[in-house]
Amino acid sequence: MIDKLKELIAEAEAFTAQSKEEVEQFRIKYLGSKGLLKEYFAEFKNVANEQKKEFGQTINQLKKTAEDKVNALKEALESLEEDNGLYGDLSRPGEPIALGARHPISIVKNQIIDIFSRIGFNVSEGPEIEDDWHNFTALNLPEYHPARDMQDTFFIQTDPDILLRTHTSSVQVRYMEENKPPIRTISPGRVYRNEAISARSHCFFHQVEGLYIDKDVSFADLKQTLQYFTTEMFGKSKIRLRPSYFPFTEPSAEVDVYWGLETETDYKMTKGTGWLEIMGCGMVDPNVLDNCGIDSKEYSGFAFGMGIDRIALLLHQISDIRLLSENDVRFLEQFKSAL
Ligand code: DAH
Repeated sequence: MIDKLKELIAEAEAFTAQSKEEVEQFRIKYLGSKGLLKEYFAEFKNVANEQKKEFGQTINQLKKTAEDKVNALKEALESLEEDNGLYGDLSRPGEPIALGARHPISIVKNQIIDIFSRIGFNVSEGPEIEDDWHNFTALNLPEYHPARDMQDTFFIQTDPDILLRTHTSSVQVRYMEENKPPIRTISPGRVYRNEAISARSHCFFHQVEGLYIDKDVSFADLKQTLQYFTTEMFGKSKIRLRPSYFPFTEPSAEVDVYWGLETETDYKMTKGTGWLEIMGCGMVDPNVLDNCGIDSKEYSGFAFGMGIDRIALLLHQISDIRLLSENDVRFLEQFKSAL
């Protein structure tokens, strides 16, 4: 009988199961109320005295083996179930994580910031909701200037003094009010104009404003700075300055960069002229300096302003400005390889 018990122990040890049902059947067979152990325990009284000890030990061993087996199999099956249920098959190959892409506006903005930071410009920001003083009056915009027309500006209805800034030049004013020269700062940000939305214009877009104030700053410094910028940004160093008018600069100019006419795209981009208009600039009007608490007899400076969206459209050959604010993933994904 002891040999039979030992056989059962070996059998129990070797037992494996794929399902809970099989484990249960095993449990019933060995440990159940009508199971093998019960049967053998009942035999105990018939065992010869000198064998009782060994018999007792062997049957206890069988009981422990069967119990351990049941517990181990249950645990293994449960953890398998958990793996499959909670996390799926943990050995399956991983799924690729989709990589995001920078927005073309951010790409161009970061390029501009990077280029100017290399020549000592810091980055400053101002509020998008502005007051009349910072957006217009301090910038030498007379009260009846057309740029103040309701057509161009979004006013906050309850207060005619509060508006959505129409340009980042407002940040110039704030920066000069709060900082003493020398000043070298660029101010990127979103601006708003009350314009009909089309492929070419939007009611909001982005600009970068530049401001340099110090003693003896000249127009030559402005020109040199612009040339450095166009070389770094576009790889083109030939620029021209066309006389223009901005209320806050005197003299004022419009900056064109010579793009060339090598490819069909160059023709398209420059409308056949080879020149591309990229920004407005000028020497800060002494009135503006004085309005902002900077002595115009002691200091002079230059300013410039450019549209980020316009440059992004040109550089990436995007045909519709609306694409920049529609968040269409198919469009945005195309900039994955860009900076
Ligand atoms: N604020 C002008 C605009 O929105 C751009 C501009 C022109 C900014 C000349 C300047 C500047 O600082 O000097 O059209």
